[in-house]
Amino acid sequence: MRAVVIEEYGVLPEVREVPEPVAGAGSVVLKVEATGLCRSDWHGWMGHDSDIVLPHVPGHELAGTIAAVGAGASGWEVGDRVTTPFICACGECEQCLEGNQQVCPNQLQPGFNYWGSFAEYVAVPYASVNLVRLPDTMDFTTAASLGCRFATSFRAIHQVGRVRPGEQVAIFGCGGVGLSAVMIAAALGAEVTAIDTNPAALSLARTQGATHTVQASDSVVDRLRELGGPHVTVDALGSGEIVQQALQALRPRGRHVQVGLLPAGVNLDVGRLIGQELSWLGSHGMPAHAYPEMLDLVATGNLHPDRLITRTITLEETPAALAALSNGTPAGVTVIAP
Ligand SMILES: NC(=O)c1ccc[n+]([C@@H]2O[C@H](COP(=O)([O-])OP(=O)(O)OC[C@H]3O[C@@H](n4cnc5c(N)ncnc54)[C@H](O)[C@@H]3O)[C@@H](O)[C@H]2O)c1
Ligand SMILES: [Zn+2]
Ligand SMILES: [Zn+2]
Repeated sequence: MRAVVIEEYGVLPEVREVPEPVAGAGSVVLKVEATGLCRSDWHGWMGHDSDIVLPHVPGHELAGTIAAVGAGASGWEVGDRVTTPFICACGECEQCLEGNQQVCPNQLQPGFNYWGSFAEYVAVPYASVNLVRLPDTMDFTTAASLGCRFATSFRAIHQVGRVRPGEQVAIFGCGGVGLSAVMIAAALGAEVTAIDTNPAALSLARTQGATHTVQASDSVVDRLRELGGPHVTVDALGSGEIVQQALQALRPRGRHVQVGLLPAGVNLDVGRLIGQELSWLGSHGMPAHAYPEMLDLVATGNLHPDRLITRTITLEETPAALAALSNGTPAGVTVIAP
């Protein structure tokens, strides 16, 4: 099969023939119908992820058709249309049994722990725990965005940030994660402020329900305080500077949700965290069992992940698109059709 192969960190990957994955016990193999390009793929390509072993095939935000079913992967058949959370949990550990598959210590992530979906085929381990059946009405391109960024934002806003109607929510960074967060927070009845350096991302944010948009600059904190100070802030980029701005802007007892990766770490103003009783909350993906609530909101027309997709590219165009993330992000979500 054809796949995007990283031979060396930070060096343009190539598209070449590699062996197809096989469906091991409990696993399935999917024919990849669509797969999203996420900044986490860029982090992996840059060498920020210690799980990756070279040579490597990235890709973790995927939807496809089951092509092979391994022994014991019960309930699934060749031809089923599915997606999976990028965190493929084991289903048997203490965290999984408590419903917290997103922090399963035995988790396997396609495109990080093993070869991912920038390819014609990809394996999904622990299939009975992780596969999510797609509604007939949802196309693969839309479904691909659910596997990482849309679902991650749903959990970050709804389950972790516990955003309530009428609350003020500030989303820093309006790429795939941030735009999803804007749409989801607005659908839950929040008053959303979107912050980005890219005016095109801000105008997309406005169409997805942001009431206020702020060009990222030193005066972001003042602007947010003028609005009363957010109840909830979300770092949807991964930036020490954003973390500082968010913690300065939050109203007392506010909640900050960290979704963007911070490979170099961050200095937290712990005195402010204590004195203002702020919460600094990590959020990681979303387990398969939490998908039905999100899919219902899509089916009833309250959420529109399809509206975030601005570009569909081929596997051959993917290496250049991945490398271009070093120079910024094109507005909206890019999906690859292998
Ligand atoms: N925690 C998780 O489970 C999880 C899941 C998915 C992605 N991520 C991480 O989330 C982050 C966002 O991913 P993405 O694919 O949406 O990224 P992206 O590159 O698509 O979006 C980032 C956005 O931030 C904007 N930006 C740049 N500098 C800024 C600044 N100073 N202030 C405000 N905005 C600025 C960019 O213009 C862009 O619109 C990445 O770090 C990714 O690795 C984490
Ligand atoms: Zn587990
Ligand atoms: Zn991702």
